[in-house]
Amino acid sequence: MEPAKEEESSVQDEAVDKSNFKNCNHIAFYSKTTALKKEDTSIDSSQENQEDLGLWQEEFGSFLDIKANGPSSIGLDFSLHGCEHVYGIPEHAETLLLKNTSDDDAYRLFNLDVYGHKIYDKMGIYGSVPFLLAHKPDRTSGIFWLNSSETLVEINTKAVMEHVPSRSPPDITKQRVVPQTDVHWMSESGIIDVFLLMGPTPFDIFKQYAQLTGTQALPPLFSLGYHQCRWNYEDEQDVKAVDAGFDEHDIPYDVIWLDIEHTESKRYFTWDKKKFQHPERMQELLKRKKRKLVVIIDPHIKVDPMYTLYSEAKKKGYFVKDRKGQDFEGICWPGSSSYLDFTNPEVREWYADQFSFKSYKGSTDILFVWNDMNEPSVFKGAELTMQRDAVHHGNWEHREVHNLYGFYQQMATAEGLIKRSGGQNRPFVLTRSFFAGSQKYGAVWTGDNVAEWSYLKISIPMLLTISIAGISFCGADVGGFIGDPEPELLVRWYQAGAYQPFFRGHANIESKRREPWLFGDENTRIIREAIRERYTLLPYLYSLFYRAHTTAEPVMRPLWVEFPKEQETFGVEDEYMLGNALLVHPVIEQEATTVNVLLPGSDEVWYDLRRFRRLDYPGTLKIPVTLESIPVFQRGGSVVPLKTTVGRSTEWMTDISYELRVALDSKDFAVGELYLDDGHSFQYLHKKQFLHRKFIFHKNVFSSSCADEIGQYHTKCVVERVLILGVQKQPTSVTASLQSKRDGKDKEVVFTYDAKTSTLTLEKLLLNVGADWEIHIK
Ligand code: NOJ
Repeated sequence: MEPAKEEESSVQDEAVDKSNFKNCNHIAFYSKTTALKKEDTSIDSSQENQEDLGLWQEEFGSFLDIKANGPSSIGLDFSLHGCEHVYGIPEHAETLLLKNTSDDDAYRLFNLDVYGHKIYDKMGIYGSVPFLLAHKPDRTSGIFWLNSSETLVEINTKAVMEHVPSRSPPDITKQRVVPQTDVHWMSESGIIDVFLLMGPTPFDIFKQYAQLTGTQALPPLFSLGYHQCRWNYEDEQDVKAVDAGFDEHDIPYDVIWLDIEHTESKRYFTWDKKKFQHPERMQELLKRKKRKLVVIIDPHIKVDPMYTLYSEAKKKGYFVKDRKGQDFEGICWPGSSSYLDFTNPEVREWYADQFSFKSYKGSTDILFVWNDMNEPSVFKGAELTMQRDAVHHGNWEHREVHNLYGFYQQMATAEGLIKRSGGQNRPFVLTRSFFAGSQKYGAVWTGDNVAEWSYLKISIPMLLTISIAGISFCGADVGGFIGDPEPELLVRWYQAGAYQPFFRGHANIESKRREPWLFGDENTRIIREAIRERYTLLPYLYSLFYRAHTTAEPVMRPLWVEFPKEQETFGVEDEYMLGNALLVHPVIEQEATTVNVLLPGSDEVWYDLRRFRRLDYPGTLKIPVTLESIPVFQRGGSVVPLKTTVGRSTEWMTDISYELRVALDSKDFAVGELYLDDGHSFQYLHKKQFLHRKFIFHKNVFSSSCADEIGQYHTKCVVERVLILGVQKQPTSVTASLQSKRDGKDKEVVFTYDAKTSTLTLEKLLLNVGADWEIHIK
């Protein structure tokens, strides 16, 4: 192990030498990376005092951490030969490419509630996935360090000399300079349990990692629509008015959210009796509009013997204990609170039952859940979280399982929602805290960001990093949670969010109202357009989620994942691929009039998604933009399924016809797919009720065939329009034939050809989306 570096702050003077890491207590962890909060400045860090305390207990501010099992830590070094590009280990508000930490803080994995977290910072925020990916042109590899205690990761990329095998006489040794990245993992406790994933392709890595931690749960379709949230929608009247506002302004949306103020003094699973007198009636109204409700359910439980959830959990011994064996008490929204011990399977089962319609009064089947504050957040706790010496089920100290706390809450919540539907319906649960494997239980978001351009910008690398660490269903609060975005920023954020996996507008309690229609007609129109674009894109997005679910391909992916040999893509973080077909470069600069877009791949062809213009010369292009522009490009060789129009919510869109956007590559070839099912149940799994279609354009024939014979799903829905981009000359005739019809008659197809953009548009096709058919172009 390397010798310790010079530490900086006053506490750091006392930090235990990392070269003696075995004996290191967690002061070393705090000191290296944590900015102490004001109330913690009373730390008595004198050498003498530390010695008195010994290594079996430790002071942090006014907090005393007793190490009942003695001090411990584990660590291991890895050298990645030939690698200088490493990624992963979310969650940090940092660049996509991991940075050298030799002159700076280590990346810290420790789930914390950090309001308005700093950006370009390696401190731990809400979630942790101890999975690192390394990439070089001919290999991607991965290190999965399975440990849920506080973990630090140091990264040191350097150039080393390597012997080149040569045929020359042995005394003439040739050497060359090659990169090497050393990765040093250290955890506060636990055992060394580490998996080395060998790739060799990025997609092999995603699969190998998913074999260990699971794949993304297939989300219910509604949850891929737009979500409208704020802290707080005041009362039933407010919910009704906001809901109606979307219809008045012709903006689709699927879900309205209720934050903590909807409860009876922050007692979760209850309703404020004055503001939400008739929660069922309110949900009935939303249900009629084919929309959903999400409510917040935090893990802390108000200490109140009259609150059944509390008294029952207390009686059953379901709370995390302090080191003296009493229920751990900390402060959170409701005041004095105890924390359910989700690491206990019995507690999870009991908690899951709380979501039954019988237990959760006022809930209906359109109510879904948001788990917040589950790092867990403990106001006035050391670093705003739980004491490390608190004790969980099986006598595990909190320090051992800290980063898993939120994971288990989301697991229990998702199980509860499945249970309440009798195993029929897919759950939707958003969590703030997460760990490796959280993808199995729902979605995550990046927490309390700020309404500033820099936070819009950082949302892209943050989401990419979370995505390649297995959690595809992720998003950042549109508009920025804290503060008030200027209209231009809000518009740009909607445009970016429309092309990110989880799409929710959210605002702090102190922020001004910011429903999409409050910023003048022009801004409303542009936001409407962005949201509508999202809704037309849903067939593609849902198909990508099916891929994430079945084959662990991230929905949102860094360019290097799709272009693993193109070095110029390795550090790109202002644009990304959505699936393998769309390259998205959101506008993230104020008053931008152009954006520089890198279109990678020397033999690739790209098309402007909106104007269909073919861009034959990949490289970096300066693309002019207006406030309306969302620079999105379709890759030649792909077929993207879209809806021809939108409805008020996803459920209104079931029967809306499809458009297939075919973008030809340099060999006039394209391939793509569509996944389709009922959008909400598990029938796709248990009864194989789904359609998985494959579309191929080859030698002037565009065909639809079955991609998976096992799936069967009846739909009346048709492909109405096909747009083929990159058709070099106007055809003389276009005909369509249904494979099932043996009468041999081909139907003439109405088409138009735009020579300027080389686009062939086929309309009024009415080809069933589940049928095999061919379109011949002559
Ligand atoms: C913190 C969450 O990050 C934020 O989204 C939420 O609005 C507040 N808690 C209040 O519940």
